[in-house]
Amino acid sequence: MKPTDRIFVALDTTDLDRAVSLANQLVGLVGGVKMGKEFLTAHGPEGVRRVAECGMPIFLDTKFHDIPNTVNSAIRAALPLNPFVINVHASGGSQMMRAAQSAVEEAGDKRPLLIAVTVLTSMSDEDLAEIGMQGLAEDRVVALAKLTQKSGLDGVVCSPLEITAVRKACGQDFKLMVPGIRPAWSVAGDQKRITTPADAVKLGADYLVIGRPITGADDPVKAAQMIADELASV
Ligand code: C5P
Repeated sequence: MKPTDRIFVALDTTDLDRAVSLANQLVGLVGGVKMGKEFLTAHGPEGVRRVAECGMPIFLDTKFHDIPNTVNSAIRAALPLNPFVINVHASGGSQMMRAAQSAVEEAGDKRPLLIAVTVLTSMSDEDLAEIGMQGLAEDRVVALAKLTQKSGLDGVVCSPLEITAVRKACGQDFKLMVPGIRPAWSVAGDQKRITTPADAVKLGADYLVIGRPITGADDPVKAAQMIADELASV
């Protein structure tokens, strides 16, 4: 894998033309594009197909969390879009994750990587206590990562601060998709648990989700090039 293949650029916009244009400009500088709730709600499968014309792998950040049968059907409905990665919430439980896993297996050779969101990076220990989950966020992330692995999934989404603990608990083959990436020259914005692209890879991230440092830059191509240069030096 080339260092830049690790980068999924987050196209967090409802502007379809901008998403298509960004994806086309960034070919060769990032490894793929991520479309999440904002884009998917605005433009659905047609929008995904338009962006996919850039030829890069697609990460459908669906974050499904529902009863097993519904999640199974929703994932099957997404398979014709040929995603490279698709995801669910680990807190949906092992039955829901197994139902999701059995859906991706229907894609055979074209099976997407199925990963799970552990604890949203926006949730603090206090936020978890508020919904009846006592203890440290990191302990919950590790417990949910283990459950995800036991349920047969390929990996998890976790913050840079949890890479080391999840790697230790789940081993080298478990895929870690890491948002909260901020190059030294960029602003943190609302992300709190952050690290640089180079440090995330050194800690053991397989894939990096990077949004605003690229998409919010005056020159997104130059920003992506600077990140590519940083990764090449790792
Ligand atoms: O702009 P920024 O680099 O902060 O974008 C990060 C992306 O990663 C956003 O699309 C956000 O929804 C996503 N994400 C995250 N934390 C998670 C899961 C996904 O920031 N735990």
